Amino acid sequence: MALALLLGPMTTHEETVRLYRAAAAEAGHDAAAMPVSINAHGYVGRTSQAARDTMYPYFARGMLDNNHQRGAGFPLSRPVFDAQATPAAGLLVGSAQEVADKLLAYHELYGVTRAIIQMGFGGMPQKEHLAAIERLGTEVAPPGAPRGGEERGMTLRVVVVNGSPNEPSKTMGLVDVVLATLDGMMPIEVARIDVYRLGPGFTGAVERDDVTPEVESELRLAEEADLLVAAAPVFRGSYPGMFKHFFDLVEQYALAGKPVLLAATGGGEHHALMLEHALRPLFGFFQALTVPVAIFASAGDFDGTLLLNPRVHGRVELALADVADLLRARATSPAPS
Ligand SMILES: Cc1cc2nc3c(=O)[nH]c(=O)nc-3n(C[C@H](O)[C@H](O)[C@H](O)COP(=O)(O)O)c2cc1C
Repeated sequence: MALALLLGPMTTHEETVRLYRAAAAEAGHDAAAMPVSINAHGYVGRTSQAARDTMYPYFARGMLDNNHQRGAGFPLSRPVFDAQATPAAGLLVGSAQEVADKLLAYHELYGVTRAIIQMGFGGMPQKEHLAAIERLGTEVAPPGAPRGGEERGMTLRVVVVNGSPNEPSKTMGLVDVVLATLDGMMPIEVARIDVYRLGPGFTGAVERDDVTPEVESELRLAEEADLLVAAAPVFRGSYPGMFKHFFDLVEQYALAGKPVLLAATGGGEHHALMLEHALRPLFGFFQALTVPVAIFASAGDFDGTLLLNPRVHGRVELALADVADLLRARATSPAPS
């Protein structure tokens, strides 16, 4: 059965597929083996944001013109389009990783074994169209296919320093997106340090010599990371004091030349520049190599702690794409066998 999904949630056809398999079983067929395909509009871009920016104008024109011929053309606004590109909606648009994830989600949902993606809709120029086909063939790889770095047996050791006292936390929701995006680019191994949970052996220490062995090993973990993710909520226009206290105990030159990705969340947009005015100078002191694009999300970008705003997803991709080669070169530990 070929399922067509133009707009709407991925789950639109759940009932249809259930009835299809039930009818097949009733007629004596192996219901699970009945093939299902998904047929949707989409585009594979260099990044999540670039894919949406490229596809939107043509898709919107197509919706207007094509449906107009049938007397039902309608203008598709960008926010409505963006909503159709989120993980729960049907369009197969995004970075190679996003499209691969959505194909897998379709497979899990309907047992889909084939997908047909229409990319030329609305007059998409051939150049853009061909670039997307190229990415489909070279980057939207099946699960288990070797990814960059694996063949060298190297893994990027990522350490997240979490400055939020909350569990669950929006800041960690943002970091989850960073880690998932990075995981799609190269083999990674992740450790997380929750500064609010390090206890009295941490809060009572003024100098490095004062910390307990447990806290010492957490500090070492951060100092020896291949990539440090410094993530904190905005507190009173800056990072929380507890977060700073952790870095007060880090050895002065241990982070020199180390890639550090800066991420923060706030109640609103007003203090987004905390990243540039507070976090980046802190790592400037350490002579660290901060990733040029820092990432901020505010309350309106989340549903609970799930980051929904595709623009922030795009910014994460941009931040990581900028330093992908550097990070691959920094990967140090052997991949677990
Ligand atoms: C003590 C305190 C101070 C805060 N100060 C600010 C602030 O100055 N600016 C801002 O945008 N949000 C501020 N917030 C809101 C948090 O930054 C925001 O809710 C954040 O997303 C929480 O992240 P979390 O869920 O990871 O803890 C403050 C919250 C607290 C508890």
